[in-house]
Amino acid sequence: MLRAQQLEMTFNPGTPIENRVLRGLSLEIPTGQFVTVIGSNGAGKSTFLNAVSGDLIVDKGRIEIDGKDVTRMNAWQRSGMVARVFQDPMAGTCEALTIEENMALAWKRGERRAFGFALNRNLREMFREKLSILKLGLENRLADRIGLLSGGQRQAVSLLMASLRPSRILLLDEHTAALDPKTAAFVLELTAKIVEAGQLTAMMVTHSMRQALDYGSRTVMLHEGQVILDVPDRSARASTCPTCCACSSRPAARSWTTTSCCWPDGARHRHRARHARRRPRRGAGDPACLLRRWLRGRRRAHRQAARRRAAHGLGGGT
Ligand SMILES: Nc1ncnc2c1ncn2[C@@H]1O[C@H](COP(=O)(O)OP(=O)(O)OP(=O)(O)O)[C@@H](O)[C@H]1O
Ligand SMILES: [Mg+2]
Repeated sequence: MLRAQQLEMTFNPGTPIENRVLRGLSLEIPTGQFVTVIGSNGAGKSTFLNAVSGDLIVDKGRIEIDGKDVTRMNAWQRSGMVARVFQDPMAGTCEALTIEENMALAWKRGERRAFGFALNRNLREMFREKLSILKLGLENRLADRIGLLSGGQRQAVSLLMASLRPSRILLLDEHTAALDPKTAAFVLELTAKIVEAGQLTAMMVTHSMRQALDYGSRTVMLHEGQVILDVPDRSARASTCPTCCACSSRPAARSWTTTSCCWPDGARHRHRARHARRRPRRGAGDPACLLRRWLRGRRRAHRQAARRRAAHGLGGGT
């Protein structure tokens, strides 16, 4: 279980380039939940993941992993609890070492590594077996330098390495962003399988709303260093707002009338019932509807701001 409470992080404080990135961010993730994280560039997603992994120590707030306060622990102290796959396929593995050597290092994650043989026949056999799951033929290339692999192959191995030892939290920061669509789909499917098989508590950052909703059992949206939207667990959602007219079809709703619903968290949102007529019936409280509505609202606000600027002769009108 991960609990982040009121996290604050400011880069370059007290200088002209001061940047308050995390602004009281709080999030609680129960054990075994797969949370997808979305948000615009600079929203603070990677900073949040860095704070959880210990690559960055927050200014204020508290981070707990399975009830243990890790706020002031650095990355290597948390390495037994947190595994991570980066956006860059070149990060997270050591280019000069072979596939089996990289895997041996990952196998020892969180443990003391003394001088001695890191590899033996049993370990090699186990690595070979794990690699064969990827169906990339890498099980026959254990002694190849990992730097010789393609980005997609390397990312698949990184993912495998992150899941080699049981960890409490798996962090995935846009780990398919640098891959071509086919390889990205493959790595995503592999991610879902690994998370499900290990019942891992996972957080995956993505810019694709479709991926976020398809793969996560819960989706949170970050904006300006805060969680501004939390789409709860799919299974729990249906009962939250059984009469949400924005998401369930309402044949009677023929005109542009405004109504309200109580989703999520009892918040009341006004929206147009006609919206429901144009789309096929979907589950009540469908997250895609909610996110689309939120994005539409932001676009509208942006257009209005641009019009206001144009009216005042500041340029930028649309
Ligand atoms: N080490 C750092 N020093 C100074 N500023 C930083 C540092 N790391 C991040 N920032 C700033 O913090 C802000 C948030 O960055 P972050 O990487 O968390 O965004 P993000 O939500 O992951 O965005 P993206 O979707 O583009 O990856 C950015 O303005 C960035 O410039
Ligand atoms: Mg980022």
